[in-house]
Amino acid sequence: MNLPKYLTDKINLVFSEINKNKLKSTQKNLTDKYKNKTGTSKDLISDKDDSIIYAVSRMPATYSVIYTLVKTLINQGFLSDINSVIDVGSGTGSVFFALSDIYDNLNFELFERNKNMIDIFNKLSDNSINVNRNDLLKDEINSSADIVTASYVLSEMSEVDRQRVFSKLLDCSKKYVLIVDTGTPTTYENLLKLKDLANSKGFSIVAPCKCNVCPLKNDYCQFFARVERSRVLLQAKSATLSYEDEKYFYLLFSKENVVVDKKRVIRRPIIKENEIELTTCSRNGVIIEKITKKNKEEFKKAKKIKINEEM
Ligand SMILES: C[S@@+](CC[C@H](N)C(=O)[O-])C[C@H]1O[C@@H](n2cnc3c(N)ncnc32)[C@H](O)[C@@H]1O
Repeated sequence: MNLPKYLTDKINLVFSEINKNKLKSTQKNLTDKYKNKTGTSKDLISDKDDSIIYAVSRMPATYSVIYTLVKTLINQGFLSDINSVIDVGSGTGSVFFALSDIYDNLNFELFERNKNMIDIFNKLSDNSINVNRNDLLKDEINSSADIVTASYVLSEMSEVDRQRVFSKLLDCSKKYVLIVDTGTPTTYENLLKLKDLANSKGFSIVAPCKCNVCPLKNDYCQFFARVERSRVLLQAKSATLSYEDEKYFYLLFSKENVVVDKKRVIRRPIIKENEIELTTCSRNGVIIEKITKKNKEEFKKAKKIKINEEM
């Protein structure tokens, strides 16, 4: 997808403020920090240039992930009943902008500890909403909302901090908690470890997992959102390819008990002349189904299905 024009224009404007002589080194330093220091709970955004680079080079991807994912979840029957949002680690505002572009009249409360990220968000949003300066590791959140979101935040934390912060997020949610993060095996493993804590507070995972206990061994699930690269994004990343595929993983927790009766195709379908092989995850576990051409209707349906779609 393309970022909406109003947001691209604003991002281009903040990009004009960066010191272009330091562009390459700032981009490299930030990428290195995210590679080497994530998972330590340290603040990875050191100054204004870092937060501009984040807005230019990461925000289009995180916005696209949230926008695509929430649209999909609404189509699957979730999240149509929300009026208020608490977004933590709100950064430059991906969740705020994506949800504002989907819903009318949502009530937002944003929480972020880094002043440089808040400053850039204020520029992108024309100061339309006040961000609470809050360190999730030290401060409480004394309010509640229908949905609590954390997008690309929990993977920055150590295991102990992640559990502690997640507990706070559950406590201030009236209906849902949505965690979105990088599509790596480590994130997959770390996020699934949050399940027991969620269960102990009356929440259960309603998407994307269908099984109570994940049966995958030495394997993991991953989702994709394609994002077109704007001119400034190409410049910031010294890239030439006109798009990027952002890989992510997410968990949607709900307080309401939801009966999960669909299957999700978790691997790319293998299409042969007379047979389609689908690996699906359902209440009965992960299985490989072979649909032959003899079963006309099923074969026709299976031919159209894509990875991560439900059937
Ligand atoms: C990778 S950015 C994600 C920003 C935004 N949520 C997005 O999806 O684009 C992570 C954000 O979480 C914030 N963050 C990390 N640890 C935090 C903490 N302990 N308290 C508050 N914010 C935190 C960082 O300052 C940063 O803005």
